[in-house]
Amino acid sequence: MRHFFSVNQLDEVEIMEILRMAEQLQQKQCAIEQQRFAANLFFEPSTRTKMSFLVAERKLGMEVLDFHQETSSTQKGESLYDTAKTFQAIGANLLVIRHPADDWFHELKDQLSIPIINAGAGKEEHPTQCMLDLLTIYQEFQQFNGINVVISGDILHSRVAKSNAQTLKRLGANVYLSTVDGCKDETLDFPYITMDEAVEICDVLMLLRIQHERHQEVAIDQSSYLRKFGLTKERERNMNPSAILLHPAPINRGVEIDSDLVECERSRIFKQMNNGVYIRMAIITKLLRAWGISYEANTQKRE
Ligand code: CP
Repeated sequence: MRHFFSVNQLDEVEIMEILRMAEQLQQKQCAIEQQRFAANLFFEPSTRTKMSFLVAERKLGMEVLDFHQETSSTQKGESLYDTAKTFQAIGANLLVIRHPADDWFHELKDQLSIPIINAGAGKEEHPTQCMLDLLTIYQEFQQFNGINVVISGDILHSRVAKSNAQTLKRLGANVYLSTVDGCKDETLDFPYITMDEAVEICDVLMLLRIQHERHQEVAIDQSSYLRKFGLTKERERNMNPSAILLHPAPINRGVEIDSDLVECERSRIFKQMNNGVYIRMAIITKLLRAWGISYEANTQKRE
């Protein structure tokens, strides 16, 4: 694997290899032998993905190059391609890119001689989020086969929904979708169910926020959303005792989920964020190895 643009690049063996690698990295101190530079090029807002890549890169011993879109030469019209080539020219060994275009990586593919990781592509792909979600589910159930996963929220505009639905299905999970009018993606071949049905059958309930910034026409009434479609305390009481709750965040408390449930016993939301660091370390490690960039993880166990 030379770049990481999509979870579809990974077969089941590679997915499990990365999950195991992430778990080992959770237990180890790591270091890259020589000075290596990573550049995180975010053209959309981010808290978790950007900061967990930063932590992952620093834990691996990489230097992180500072980039802020608003003060970069993209403001003078420089393209993504020329920005990426510039970072390669000044010595970056790895690019992590988030961009609002669904297919931004197609123009960069085969054009650079350093690995690129997709940290979010429009409404289509968020592969590292998918991988950290898989790790969180796997650590809970030790398998994917036969697990009922319901993805609920703005399916049409969510790159998290698309990356997760297809991959979980491939791994043997039963995937269902739940949403409101205007947020269905008719191209996805999964059954749609109501939120009342979802809580009854799910082992994993993955909640998503409404992505107002990607809506052009549909106006969702936030004040009634929780009562009609969200996870209320009443609905949460109908979930199986062993069922868990995921959310990629950011969370709109009181809209898709009652604020008191964000940190309830079955919530793994902050566990997902912690897992994100180690999944990203594992993916960076795998790519650096594929490009022959020296990397060494010592075997010292964390205290
Ligand atoms: N889950 C996620 O992608 O969060 P950020 O937008 O904060 O990176």
